[in-house]
Amino acid sequence: MTAFDLEAGLEARHKAQLFRRRLTLETPQGPEVIIDGSPCLAFCSNDYLGLANHPEVLASFQKAAAEYGVGGGASHLVIGHSRAHHELEDALAEFTGRPRVLLFTTGYMANLGVISALLGSKDAIFHDRLNHASLLDAGQLCGARFQRYLHVDPESLETRLARSEANRKLVVTDGVFSMDGNLAPLPELAEKAKKHDSWLMVDDAHGFGVLGKGGRGCASHFNLDMDQLPVLVGTLGKGFGTSGAFVAGSEALIETLIQFARSYIYTTSMPPAVAAATLTSLKILEQEDWRRSHLNDLISRFRNGCEQMGLELMNSQTPIQPLKVGSAENALRLSQHLKQQGILVTAIRPPTVPQGESRLRFTFSAAHSIDQVDRLLDALDELAADIREATA
Ligand SMILES: Cc1ncc(COP(=O)(O)O)c(C=O)c1O
Repeated sequence: MTAFDLEAGLEARHKAQLFRRRLTLETPQGPEVIIDGSPCLAFCSNDYLGLANHPEVLASFQKAAAEYGVGGGASHLVIGHSRAHHELEDALAEFTGRPRVLLFTTGYMANLGVISALLGSKDAIFHDRLNHASLLDAGQLCGARFQRYLHVDPESLETRLARSEANRKLVVTDGVFSMDGNLAPLPELAEKAKKHDSWLMVDDAHGFGVLGKGGRGCASHFNLDMDQLPVLVGTLGKGFGTSGAFVAGSEALIETLIQFARSYIYTTSMPPAVAAATLTSLKILEQEDWRRSHLNDLISRFRNGCEQMGLELMNSQTPIQPLKVGSAENALRLSQHLKQQGILVTAIRPPTVPQGESRLRFTFSAAHSIDQVDRLLDALDELAADIREATA
């Protein structure tokens, strides 16, 4: 056996029921999709508002591709920063009520860029223990003292903040937790951060479009201004239905990122047509409140239906509705049974979630109909006994 015996690692992952397989999507994102040749009703995308294949978003993309071509062609600091990017940054600044916004090519890169531009070895980062992998990875990369506080627990955060003698202290949290669907207690976290002379950074990947006035996310939901929440990250691949990410904050923050965020500087800009398409999706997202109210109707119907079947969902009011089923094997088996009924729901397993906390993660979109949620509930009804046993 050599140090590069990759087969052994893959075999171990198989045995632990943790092997990942990619499904091949043959249609645009939407409730009804074709996966590997089979039609399915899907409850697993992050296209919360149904904008990924919206005709106006698509038309803007096509028009901008005709105007700018396909590739960004260079990094933002060379010659890859187009008028389309700039307009989107200005529109997002107005939307978030922050002086400036900076676009990144992905949310993962935004988190790496911000955290490593702000922190170094004399500093400390304070993570909710269930933060998204991109935040945790960024925390490791930046070299700051790495601490995790108990999930959504401001007191646990405060104990750690009070003990720290670091130069800069950055408290980092998901706004809506990606695998649990619950919200971080942002007003309390902001208060603790301020009290201990720290900054709060929120990754609101799953809140934008869904929560707050006109879809302005967690900051609006909790009414937090820039003083309470100086670093606000959003992603564009979820509620916005396109791709990329942004950071919103002060003039000095954004200029610091332009100068020092390596994942901003050393990479090609996102395709300008994606920025132009996002400008259109931003308008729809902001104006069409019916998408959020329909989404809330779907979530209530699903939660009520599960309750009637005796299925205990996690405590979430967002479009992320997980059902814990214990082992990875349970999650895979139940997801496979649903697939046989033409319903696609992802089995979420370690290391994405802790051992013994595997789950079926249902996600809803404004593009789903009430009838489609009822189809899902009918399919779950057939499996209810099995699920109850798995969760007993
Ligand atoms: C909370 C959170 N942050 C960041 C990301 C990464 O964003 P992106 O897909 O744009 O890289 C995701 C998911 O993809 C996420 O769920």
